[in-house]
Amino acid sequence: MTRHFLRDDDITPAEQAEILDLAAQLKRDRFAAKPLAGPQTVAVIFDKSSTRTRVSFAVGVADLGGSPLIISTASSQLGGKETPSDTARVLERMVSAIVWRTYAQTGLEQMAAGTTVPVVNALSDEFHPCQLLADLLTIRERRGSLAGLTLAFLGDGASNMAQSYLLAGATAGIHIRIASPAEYAPDDDVVVDATAIATQTGGSVTLYTDPAEAVAGVDVVVTDTWVSMGKEEEKAERLAVFGHYRVDAELMALAGPDALFMHCLPADRGYEVTADVIDGPQSVIWDEAENRLHAQKALLVWLLEKNAA
Ligand code: CP
Ligand code: NVA
Repeated sequence: MTRHFLRDDDITPAEQAEILDLAAQLKRDRFAAKPLAGPQTVAVIFDKSSTRTRVSFAVGVADLGGSPLIISTASSQLGGKETPSDTARVLERMVSAIVWRTYAQTGLEQMAAGTTVPVVNALSDEFHPCQLLADLLTIRERRGSLAGLTLAFLGDGASNMAQSYLLAGATAGIHIRIASPAEYAPDDDVVVDATAIATQTGGSVTLYTDPAEAVAGVDVVVTDTWVSMGKEEEKAERLAVFGHYRVDAELMALAGPDALFMHCLPADRGYEVTADVIDGPQSVIWDEAENRLHAQKALLVWLLEKNAA
């Protein structure tokens, strides 16, 4: 069975640690691995906008000796005229992996079910697992290890970032706290899955509506846009309810004394986070962005190895 990476919990705790170790190794020695030498091609498909994901996959595939093929869905047959599985059946004849940023998770599942090459979720409405590998690498660099840390995500609890934090954080043994308005709480199924994983790893999952309560004493404070891609029409109603969850200096002061501030970017300064916090000494956003490159390279190396075995 082909291994894919569609959700954070597609990998076990041991596999997650293995990928993070490999990422750290590739960060130290950037051109050490060339599994795509040939060059083999990786298709990187975008239904939504991107800066970091596009550049980090393009550069990462090239670093691994391969050739990235960046495809904008609007100028392809995918979506309008062709199903994800038919597209995958064609691509697998020519490429070594498929990376896709899309809307519904079900599209990724259909693509993965229809192909023998690994499919990687480069962000869906439900999850952003590549970002989480980068985020965990960043936290590990600063704190040495992950298990037992406490992390609070503030804002849209039903967003891809919050839900990936639940699954990936639980996999890493982190105590994950999500603070959101009740109507933007994470999906029940994701909470159940994350809680089950946390039971195995020693982490935990707690949902809050009060941001102050959620950040009390934590090691890491995370936020993300209140208006994810695809939700633009809901902007006014979202801005009306999320104001209370803005990460500002006052809220950061309630976290642990050396708490890290993280944001996957792009950020709306003045909305989900104030400029003094995101541009301040506790913020690790630039390392977090750089680590997309190293983490995704490690993921590709690992997937190619697993699927060759
Ligand atoms: N964080 C992230 O995925 O950024 P892009 O949307 O620029 O790819
Ligand atoms: N939650 C954001 C992440 C962007 C990288 C979105 O989906 O737009």
